[in-house]
Amino acid sequence: VEVSVLIPAAGQGERLGLGPKAFLRVGGRTLLEWALLPFQGASEVLVALPPGAEPPRGLRATFLEGGRSRQESVARLLEAASLPMVLVHDVARPFVSRKLVERVLEATRREGAAVPVLPVPDTLVRPEEARYGEVLPREALRLVQTPQGFFTALLREAHAYARKRGLTATDDAQLVRALGYPVALVEGERTAFKITYQEDLPLAEALARVWNA
Ligand code: CTP
Ligand code: MG
Repeated sequence: VEVSVLIPAAGQGERLGLGPKAFLRVGGRTLLEWALLPFQGASEVLVALPPGAEPPRGLRATFLEGGRSRQESVARLLEAASLPMVLVHDVARPFVSRKLVERVLEATRREGAAVPVLPVPDTLVRPEEARYGEVLPREALRLVQTPQGFFTALLREAHAYARKRGLTATDDAQLVRALGYPVALVEGERTAFKITYQEDLPLAEALARVWNA
C-alpha cells in the first residue's frame, strides 16, 4: 500500500514519569515495538524520537529527531514522508488491530482524511470552581484516537497553514478542519486507548497478555 506510517514518539512521558514512552516495556515489548505491529508490511515507516535518544536496533523503520511538541514532531515526519497517503499514529497507543488500520485506510482513500472515534461512556460536566456545573451532552461528543489517515498533500497543507496562523493542536485532524477540509469518522476501538498515567499500566499489561496469547 502507498502509505507512509508516521509515528510521533518524541514525547517525554511526563505524566507517566517513567521516561519516554517509546522505550517503556509492556508485556516484553517496548511501546514502540507494539505500536509498529499493526503496520507490518507498510512500505515506509518513519519514527520521531526524543532529541538525543539512541534509535533502537532491529526495527524496520527510519528514525528522526522529533520537535518540542507533538505537532512539530509530526511536521518533521511529514517532511520526510514520500508516499501519497500517511497514517499518523501515537506511540502511546500500543494496542491497535489491523482491522482498525484497514477501516481508517479505507475511509482515507475515499475521503482524503479519516480518524477513529468512540462514544463517551461517562457523564461530562463543566466544573464551576470546585462545584458540579453544566452537564455536556455526551451523545453529541466523541473521543478521538489514532491512527489518523490523510492524503499527504492535504496534511502538509494543514500543517503549513497552522504554522502560518500560529495554531496549535493535539492531533492532526483538527489542523485539517482548521484548513476547512472535512475529516471522516470511523469506529474506534476501546483497546486503542492512550497510555498516559501510571494507572494505565496494569491495563496495558493485561492487554499485552491477551495480544501475546
Ligand atoms: N509526542 C511527540 N513529540 C513531542 C511530544 C509528544 O512525538 N514533542 C508524541 C508522544 O510521543 C506520543 C503522542 O505525541 O506518542 C501523544 O502524546 P502524549 O500522550 O502527550 O505523550 P507524551 O507527550 O510523551 O506525554 P506527556 O504529555 O505526559 O509528557
Ligand atoms: Mg504530551
